[in-house]
Amino acid sequence: DWTPDSFVEETVEAIQAKVGGDKVVLGLSGGVDSTVAAVLLNKAIGANLYCIFVNNGLLRKNEFESVLKQYEGMGLNVKGVDASDRFLAALAGIEDPELKRKAIGNAFIEVFDDEAHKLEDVKWLAQGTIYPDVIESVSATGGPSATIKSHHNVGGLPDFMKLKIVEPLRAIFKDEVRRVGATLGIDPELLGRHPFPGPGLGIRILGDITAEKVRILQEVDAIFINGLKTWGLYDKVWQAGAMLLPVNSVGVMGDERTYEKCVALRAVESTDGMTADWVNLPYEFLQKTSNDIINKVKGVNRVVYDISSKPPATIEWE
Ligand code: XMP
Repeated sequence: DWTPDSFVEETVEAIQAKVGGDKVVLGLSGGVDSTVAAVLLNKAIGANLYCIFVNNGLLRKNEFESVLKQYEGMGLNVKGVDASDRFLAALAGIEDPELKRKAIGNAFIEVFDDEAHKLEDVKWLAQGTIYPDVIESVSATGGPSATIKSHHNVGGLPDFMKLKIVEPLRAIFKDEVRRVGATLGIDPELLGRHPFPGPGLGIRILGDITAEKVRILQEVDAIFINGLKTWGLYDKVWQAGAMLLPVNSVGVMGDERTYEKCVALRAVESTDGMTADWVNLPYEFLQKTSNDIINKVKGVNRVVYDISSKPPATIEWE
């Protein structure tokens, strides 16, 4: 029977047999899949694994710094690359969701390719692809592997894509990935993280993206997500996040009329992201969260809660 321990043992041996003494490069996303893949490879080949964690400027508040530290603490050979400005520049003025995804995917490929070129003699590209990704074309779990796959038809292949591929999680499902991660001693909090799309906050800022909008949404998202954790609701929700709407609405503050931004909160229950139901979060929680957001985040004067299920409404708004 399948157990995480036997999976780890067999996979470590299989990786060693496959890549031998070659160098391997892997893109870390901060998500469960790429992290478990990295730890598994690290166990198998140690210092021959070179991890790259790219900040696309569209991650959650403080996520790049804190996750990078966490990776280092896990003994991974990881390089953090802050390419926020490059992504923001590539996105300037783009409003269409699919064009945004393309711009983000292409910027990722460029940055990753640049970094991969700095490593000498790399022979393999490792990816955190899991079984459902193999079936679908776009991963529901986000991360570099998903980005690469949905964009590998863009003109000539970058050099890193000519590398041989090693995908140690290719045959297993998400819950199994989490169990493998637990066996490997990965922090349960990291393993329990909600899915987060590869394009990140880029597809939660409706319309064009600016640094200021990213900052606002990071603040709102942090209040919402931290609130879910504080109230013991985080683990009851499959995925949650906030959307910055391209709408200003009228409000009052003291004697002043305001005309500011509106955010939508979304929390869903799901098993695979293909269908989803909105979560019946307690009113008291919503009330407190809405007050916190409006009081603490300058530029936001209205909060709404998304009560749409998928289908027909997708989880992300873009
Ligand atoms: P939707 O919005 O299609 O999302 O209901 C289903 C799941 O997929 C994630 N998602 C993405 N992940 N790149 C990704 O890596 C994307 O472009 C993308 N779009 C949606 C979404 O967060 C949810 O988990």
